[in-house]
Amino acid sequence: MSHTERMPRTRTYLMCPPEHFTVEYAINPWMDTTAPVDPVLALKQWQMLHDTLADLGHQVHVLSPQPGLPDMVFAANGAFSVDGTVYGARFKHPQRAAEAAFHQLFYASGAWRFADPAFVNEGEGDFAYLPNAYGGLILAGYGFRTDPAAHAEAQEVLGRPVVSLKLVDPAYYHLDTALAALDDRNVTYYPDAFSAASQRVLRQLFPDAVLADRADAEAFGLNLVSDGRNVVLNTEAAGMADKVRAAGYTPVTVDLSELKRGGGSVKCAVAELRP
Ligand code: ARG
Repeated sequence: MSHTERMPRTRTYLMCPPEHFTVEYAINPWMDTTAPVDPVLALKQWQMLHDTLADLGHQVHVLSPQPGLPDMVFAANGAFSVDGTVYGARFKHPQRAAEAAFHQLFYASGAWRFADPAFVNEGEGDFAYLPNAYGGLILAGYGFRTDPAAHAEAQEVLGRPVVSLKLVDPAYYHLDTALAALDDRNVTYYPDAFSAASQRVLRQLFPDAVLADRADAEAFGLNLVSDGRNVVLNTEAAGMADKVRAAGYTPVTVDLSELKRGGGSVKCAVAELRP
């Protein structure tokens, strides 16, 4: 099968170094408070991810990490922006609640329209945007973290259709652990992470999606960041790298073994800013 050449688009990202990263509470099945994190290695791996994105030509903003907020490295959860409008986050768990204000402060320093959320939602953890699918489509996950009422709120704030997808496997508690945008119109996803009805919806909307399997999901292979051509994903996800290569994309791997202890990988650590 031949593919038209995949074209990268320059992106702007926001990341937060894991300076205070630990696993001191467990709010997802990957977190084991008895297994120590190697802080030096975590920071080194994060820096490699940061430099990889910068070397691909993207602009990477850095948010100041805060003591007492060990999950702040998972910057994707702090907000969701589309075309200059930011829909703020509201965390489900009290341990992470204070992160939202630091993200809001970041947006206050730029030319963004910021909307305060009334409902629980964990930003890009549960929202994805496809600017060239159906004129601009938002995919939204619920079932574990984000309140489905936030999906309707996001649609009102952002003025794009929001398609709600139900997550059913606690290991894949955020949409970004089970589905990723590969470019402006196509996605990859792990079907079994979704309800049967949501799988039906995904098949209808994305007949050409790259389908991932259980091993890809377990290796956090869906938790990827793509610029439309270069697909940055974690080293462990070798099968996923093969699948995106077969679909005409260029996999770029980064070892993020330490962040996995927190239940996240590449995408969790990167918020895309859409000015
Ligand atoms: N420990 C964090 C939590 O459970 C991990 C968040 C991962 N982020 C993501 N976008 N999936 O909230």
